[in-house]
Amino acid sequence: MNIIERAMLGRSPLPREELASVPAGDAPAPRSLDSMIERAAVIAKPEPSRVNPPKRTQHSTVLDFDRLRAMGMLVPDARRSQIKEEYRHIKRPLLMNAAGKGATLAEHANLIMVTSSRPGEGKTFTACNLALSIAAERDRTVLLVDADVIKPSLAKTLGFEAGRGLVDLLIDEQIELADVLVDTNVPSLTVLPAGSAHHLSTELLASENMRKLAVEMSNRYSDRIIVIDSPPLLVTTEASVLATLAGQIVMVVEASRTHQSQVQEALALLDSNQIVGFVLNKAQRVLGADYYGYGYGYGYGYGYGYGYGADQREGTEE
Ligand SMILES: Nc1ncnc2c1ncn2[C@@H]1O[C@H](COP(=O)(O)OP(=O)(O)O)[C@@H](O)[C@H]1O
Ligand SMILES: [Mg+2]
Repeated sequence: MNIIERAMLGRSPLPREELASVPAGDAPAPRSLDSMIERAAVIAKPEPSRVNPPKRTQHSTVLDFDRLRAMGMLVPDARRSQIKEEYRHIKRPLLMNAAGKGATLAEHANLIMVTSSRPGEGKTFTACNLALSIAAERDRTVLLVDADVIKPSLAKTLGFEAGRGLVDLLIDEQIELADVLVDTNVPSLTVLPAGSAHHLSTELLASENMRKLAVEMSNRYSDRIIVIDSPPLLVTTEASVLATLAGQIVMVVEASRTHQSQVQEALALLDSNQIVGFVLNKAQRVLGADYYGYGYGYGYGYGYGYGYGADQREGTEE
């Protein structure tokens, strides 16, 4: 049994519909009631016009949806896709928790940190898709923050040239949040890029300024979801300090590459009371009828109840 299975078995049983994993590449869209409902909802409620998005910041960019789609990413159009379906399952418990309707009440639950144990597992991919998926919801606004100051790649992934951002905000008190935000042609999605390279950039993540900024973002925009693309937990200690600021953690695990001991080590760096959900990324398995009988049966699950008690973190079964 792997760590994810064990962690989840320690909680209340997971409803089948909350299990999801993100396959690498294209896969046929599953037939399910949820996907039909999603389709019906899109027809019933046309998405807001992308023409002339309101200018709230000094910067804006136009995301190239065809390019994002070609990268296997989620785009906010009316088309049905496997990735949209996957992310509906991923975002649902996060949104419930953010609205205070989840099984767990967490402070700053609208601050969602996307992390992993190692680089390259798909944090940026997941953070972007999650943000795009949430932004497609009616009455939801999303701020997508690149806090992976070690290897910033949010702007590049989304396809725009970033200027100043988080690091500049943390080192220069003259700069305000609105000065460095980038609006997009998804009206409800705003991006905060990582900003300038700085020799103390990782230290800045654990700074008092970062804490104040996180509280400001969470409180000032309490109806907004803030998705934070973060450094890997096992690479820098500042990532776990950053994690203490977030109300919810999404732990990306690269299917078949990440060692269970690495996941366990990363989990041990998090506060045991934190809400932690898993995304099993680049899985070969697709969401379908048989959740349990293929490879990592429990690809993805949310921490119903509380995070991981010390007892659940002990011992590795590989
Ligand atoms: N589910 C997926 N399907 C296809 N490509 C993926 C998937 N997840 C990640 N990738 C690709 O893998 C590479 C590493 O992902 P990335 O999100 O940059 O990792 P990290 O941010 O954790 O370092 C990127 O090229 C990304 O586009
Ligand atoms: Mg990244």
